Amino acid sequence: MPKIAEEVIRNNDLVFATRPKTKVMGALSYNKNDIAFAQYGESWRQMKKLARTHLLSSQKVKSMSFDRAEEVSLLLEKVADAASRGNEVICLTEILNSYVTNVITREVLGSWITKEKKTFLSKLSHESSPLFYEVFFQDFFPNLKWLDVLRGSDRKLKNYMKNWDALFEEIIKNHSRESKEVNGNNNTYFIGTLLELQKDSSLGFVLTNDHIRGLTLDMIIAGIDTTFATLDWCMTELVRHPEVMNKVKDELKKVAHGEDKISEELLDQLSYLKVFIKEVIRLHPPSPLLLPRESLEECQIQGYNIPKQTRLVINAWAFGRDKSIGKNQK
Ligand code: HEM
Repeated sequence: MPKIAEEVIRNNDLVFATRPKTKVMGALSYNKNDIAFAQYGESWRQMKKLARTHLLSSQKVKSMSFDRAEEVSLLLEKVADAASRGNEVICLTEILNSYVTNVITREVLGSWITKEKKTFLSKLSHESSPLFYEVFFQDFFPNLKWLDVLRGSDRKLKNYMKNWDALFEEIIKNHSRESKEVNGNNNTYFIGTLLELQKDSSLGFVLTNDHIRGLTLDMIIAGIDTTFATLDWCMTELVRHPEVMNKVKDELKKVAHGEDKISEELLDQLSYLKVFIKEVIRLHPPSPLLLPRESLEECQIQGYNIPKQTRLVINAWAFGRDKSIGKNQK
């Protein structure tokens, strides 16, 4: 089984580079205008290039280090505050969830967004994963669309997207207002950058509002739950394994050189912590079945003919726990 997946991912990555054309993927991708849910093609390539150059470049990531440092300080204050009250139990899950939501929304949307909006946005983001695998009869039998209407799936998806639409409308309005009021780094965050790029005639293609909504939705959905679940599992595994906790602490102390915080430039020196995080992702992948893929053309896997448009689901959770892989790892 891992051999098959290896052959698919290593040798046939391009053949399986597209997503199935389903009702859910169409809605989440804002009609094929994003990266994560859209089908492979010219628009997907342009969005991917745009994200790599303007949103996720190392220069851009660095430019927001102040925001991350500020959010880390707030997180530490919350923990210290709760700890100073004596025997009070600290719910790290809640604190970490709010920390990750704050960081991602700040980087993607800016710092104007209210606490209530963040909670709502985080809830919407949590609700997206079950949607990826929701079965719509119309995807297989277009004549059976009425069944989806009857089961309420159609309405559920429509209402879900209505919430995002309303949020995006407010976000774009807010950005225009802020742009007038604030002179400065309003375009540092993603949505600001995208709205600026929309005015750039040298871009080579038209960046529509649906592209902006699609890309922003990707960053929020793909960024919040994955990061939060990973951090939550990291803390769980540290509590379960005190010997690992001690090693992590020792390394942190050594790299910190007596300071009470470690700057992002020093993160590279935390090699044990890095291996630990990779191990946590292996055991608890935040998206255990990844996202469904589909073949663009006929291909051969392990001697079998695989027809065009075959849907592929990769069980990353099972891989991580397969004893035949990485037998020599400690
Ligand atoms: C611990 C944190 C994270 C993990 C483990 C993770 C893991 C993954 C994985 C496995 C995929 C591939 C899914 C597939 O093709 O089936 C993916 C795609 C993606 N991730 Fe992440 N991710 C994390 C954090 C983030 C963050 C913080 C962002 C953005 C702010 C992000 C944005 C994306 C996007 C846009 C894609 C789609 C790329 C594409 O389809 O080509 N991820 N992530």
